[in-house]
Formats: sequence, C-alpha cells, structure tokens
Amino acid sequence: MASPKKTQLVGLDIGSHSIKLVELDQNKRGRLLKSFGVIGLPPGAIVEGTIKEMEPISSAIKTLFSNLKVINPNVATSISGYSVIAKRLSFSQRSEEEIAATIREEAEQHIPFDINEVNLDFDILPDEEDLPGDQPAESVLPEGDEEETRQTNIMLVAARKDIVDDYVTLLQSSDLNPAVLDVDAFALQNAVELTAEDPRGCFVIVDVGAQKLGINAVKNGVSMFSRDSSYGGNRITEAIMSEFGVSFEEAEKIKLTPLESGDKEEGLEKILALEVSSWVREIGRALDFVGSTYSEEKIEKIILTGGSCKIPGFPQYLESELDISVEELNPFKIVVAKGSLFDPDYLDYMAPQAGVALGLALRSIGDK
Ligand SMILES: Nc1ncnc2c1ncn2[C@@H]1O[C@H](COP(=O)(O)OP(=O)(O)OP(=O)(O)O)[C@@H](O)[C@H]1O
Ligand SMILES: [Mg+2]
Repeated sequence: MASPKKTQLVGLDIGSHSIKLVELDQNKRGRLLKSFGVIGLPPGAIVEGTIKEMEPISSAIKTLFSNLKVINPNVATSISGYSVIAKRLSFSQRSEEEIAATIREEAEQHIPFDINEVNLDFDILPDEEDLPGDQPAESVLPEGDEEETRQTNIMLVAARKDIVDDYVTLLQSSDLNPAVLDVDAFALQNAVELTAEDPRGCFVIVDVGAQKLGINAVKNGVSMFSRDSSYGGNRITEAIMSEFGVSFEEAEKIKLTPLESGDKEEGLEKILALEVSSWVREIGRALDFVGSTYSEEKIEKIILTGGSCKIPGFPQYLESELDISVEELNPFKIVVAKGSLFDPDYLDYMAPQAGVALGLALRSIGDK
C-alpha cells in the first residue's frame, strides 16, 4: 500500500567541479543526516551549466551512490547558469489557473529564449503588503491601474528544454528517478532560510563555485533578484596553470595548499588577489543594483557559500571592501549528524559546498 508519508528525496548537486549528495531522514523529532558525500568530476564534463560529457558524470553518480550505500533512487537536483532564468512578475489579481492559461504569452516578453524551447514554471508569491518596500516586480499592468488593483506576484522560472532533458537523461541513465528539478539559487535559499535565526529581512546569498558566481538577493523569503555570472575558482586554477606551466590537477593542489607553494607564493598571491577583486566588484555591482531598485531596503548581510569562499582572506576582504557584514553558511547546523557516522571536522570543512545539496534534500515528491 502506498504510504501517506511524503517521499523523501536524495539531494544531488551536480556542480561543475564536484557532485554533492545529501540524504536526510526527516521526522517529528528533527532532521537526521543519513548520508553525505562528494565526488569530483573531470574538468570539461560540465561547462557553464551544460552537460558536455554524459558518461563520466553518470559513472561518478553511480559510484557516489554505491560508496555511500544510498538505495533511494528518487532524486532532487538543480540547474544553474545562463540556461535558466528566474524573474518576478506582477499581474492584476488573478487565480493560479488564470495565470497558467496566459503564462506562455506573458513569459515571451520577459525571457531571451524562444518560448518553444523552454520549460516554464511559476510560483505565486506572498502578497506585496508582506514585502515592505518599493514595487519592484516587472509590472504587466496597464499604466495607471496599479493604484486601485490588488496584485498577484509570481516567480517565473524558464529553463531551456534541451538542458532540462539532458539532466533527466543523465539521471535516468544513472538508474535514478529525477523527481524534482530545482534551480541552484532557490535550493540554496531553502537551506539558508532554515539556518537563519530570523528568516525575514533582506540579505544576499553569494555562491562562489568553480565556474559560476551566483547571487540571490532575498527579502522576507522571496527572491528579489538573482543572477549567475561566470566567475569562480576555475579561473584561479587556469591562471595557475598558465603562470607555472602545470596541469589542472597540479594547479588545484597549489591553490588548495597555498602555504606549501614555496617559490610560487608571490605569483600565487597576485593571481588570487586579481581574481578575488573581480568577484568583489561583481558582488558590489549586484548590491548597487538591488540598493537602487529597492531603495527602502537595507541589505543586512551577505551569506557566503560555495567552495571558492574558502580562499583565505576572501570573506574578510569582501566585508571590508563592501562595508557589509559577511557570514559563512553552515547548512549542517539544521541537521543532527551522528558523530559515529560523520567526522565533525570533515563536515565543517565541506559545509560551504553542501548548501545546494542540503536544500535539495529538504524537498519531497509532489513539492511545487
Ligand atoms: N580550501 C579551498 N581553497 C580554495 N578553493 C577551494 C577550496 N576548496 C574548494 N575550492 C574550490 O571551490 C571550487 C568548487 O566549489 P563548489 O563545490 O562549490 O563548486 P561546484 O558546485 O562544483 O561548481 P559550480 O557550482 O560553479 O558549477 C573549486 O574551484 C575548488 O578548487
Ligand atoms: Mg555549485
């Protein structure tokens, strides 16, 4: 008989540098960490959020499941980058059915892709009164109507069909069932909101991975603005490769162990400083944009995540350059991890990289 219990999903973050897996056991007493693991991917297998080589990724996924002895085939995964666009839109008050009936035509005006080549989805957002501040969503009301009419705000998500199909094929060919397909930024937001003491207010989540720098400005639980750009740790690795004439693997090693870099120390410092300052400028531009669009809002802090936020001194530099408080995300704060199963030091070290996978593991089948 079918169990009335919501089916728990395995969170699988297929990043360009590594795949992260989180499995939880959620019950009345709390959230227990059942499985956590990471497996590296060969460079070039995923480029800018698109799958370039299916086979090595599928084999890494199978190895990860088998090493961790995870048997649940139902997976929540996410996509990111230029092939997915999330946008807030505002309509005169209307029902979910009414929005669904016209969403394709509306979306056509707001997304840069051919409407026949995207999958569309939307979520109705809480009333604007709950979200103090300007009216920032792109309005599709006739001019002059804003005053009298109540509005329905939605978050529109458009993802290129070919990219979505590739992720579905990848999971199916790894003997898994892709039950939920989310967006990196929203999975992360899910995890951040549960870790926050007070999830209300205005903050910016920054995810610096290997190939992307993701920014998501959130107000009272709703994303106001999100953008992925192609900065990230790989650019440092590539600069080390060309500066010292070493392989990708050697360059990664030099980057991860800067204290052992010997005579390369000075060159390495220059590379790190150059790249990190371009990240800080990109984050600064996003904060300026949010500040000017939502002029009544005060961004309280940046929540930093992603493997590249572990570059020594980066959080402090970000904090001092942009004059805003910076906090590093530890998504494991919201789970109970038995010391007999997980090494606390390892979980602490991996915490910045686990946010997306943990946010995905919080989802269950049938979630919108
Ligand atoms: N201690 C560290 N110091 C510096 N860089 C680090 C450290 N640990 C990991 N990184 C870098 O973080 C990046 C991987 O981070 P993450 O796992 O968040 O990326 P990803 O999710 O695989 O990639 P993306 O989301 O960009 O596709 C790599 O570039 C890696 O070299
Ligand atoms: Mg990532």
